[in-house]
Amino acid sequence: MRHLIDILELSVDEIDALIETANDIIANPEKYAEKCRHKKLATLFFEPSTRTRLSFEAAMYELGGNVLGFSEAASSSSAKGESVSDTIKVVSSYADIIAMRHPKEGAPMVASMKSDVPVINAGDGGHNHPTQTLTDLLTIKREIGRLDNIVIGYCGDLKFGRTVHSLANALSRYKNVKMVFISPEELRIPDYIIEEVLKPLGIEYVETADLMEYMPELDVLYMTRVQRERFFNEADYIRLKDSYILDAEKLSHAKETACVLHPLPRVNEIAIEVDEDPRAKYFIQAKYGKYIRMALILKLLGIE
Ligand code: NCD
Repeated sequence: MRHLIDILELSVDEIDALIETANDIIANPEKYAEKCRHKKLATLFFEPSTRTRLSFEAAMYELGGNVLGFSEAASSSSAKGESVSDTIKVVSSYADIIAMRHPKEGAPMVASMKSDVPVINAGDGGHNHPTQTLTDLLTIKREIGRLDNIVIGYCGDLKFGRTVHSLANALSRYKNVKMVFISPEELRIPDYIIEEVLKPLGIEYVETADLMEYMPELDVLYMTRVQRERFFNEADYIRLKDSYILDAEKLSHAKETACVLHPLPRVNEIAIEVDEDPRAKYFIQAKYGKYIRMALILKLLGIE
């Protein structure tokens, strides 16, 4: 039995195969409509979510399966003091597969150790978010045509932004990927990613506080929200929240072929006017999230 807690648990070949399956689902959805008949997905969300939870649920429905779960900790027995381990032991006797989001780093990993069914990390605190990464990779592959030989700029809250951590990990295994980390000093990419991932793998990277410095070189600009819920005090959040706002003028310096991604939700970091630019791919990215999660559910359930 396999779980998905960290994106690095999937080999590059496995990721490529998931992308291929997602592409096939997009092209031939009817082939997949009954694949998960009588299977149940539990979505256990201890933190807010729109896209991740609903795309998981839509994914299971489109595979012909069913869904159960909760969307806030307050409506589960964790509000009565139940541990994650106990919740998972019980839920894994009701469902065939579990997607779990939790504010504590490592909670889905603990859950996977207690579960009788596959557990998918749907975001753990400021740590990881592997299924968002699969979504991002599918989007880059479809929109740019490749995952090797790209220059990607990550902009915003690189400290608490779990989607950036997982995506940088995943892309570090593709060939000739250059990474530009754009953030205020206080929200820099964590040292462990630089020291344990980028340096050992010889990945070319730079850090800058200036969004425009590398704009003309970027193939992908990955914007992120400043993660208010992970700040220790509101004053710091207010000071940093509008550090970067991508608008049409700034984007006019980017390549014609570039693409702008964002895991969403957007707060202020991309001006609404950018939505009309053909390089804005964040809404289609959210849509692709459903297809790659369909592919992942099939893989973890061992369904061909
Ligand atoms: C992201 C998350 O939850 O980490 N959202 C998502 O899953 N699409 C990004 C965010 O909340 O800023």
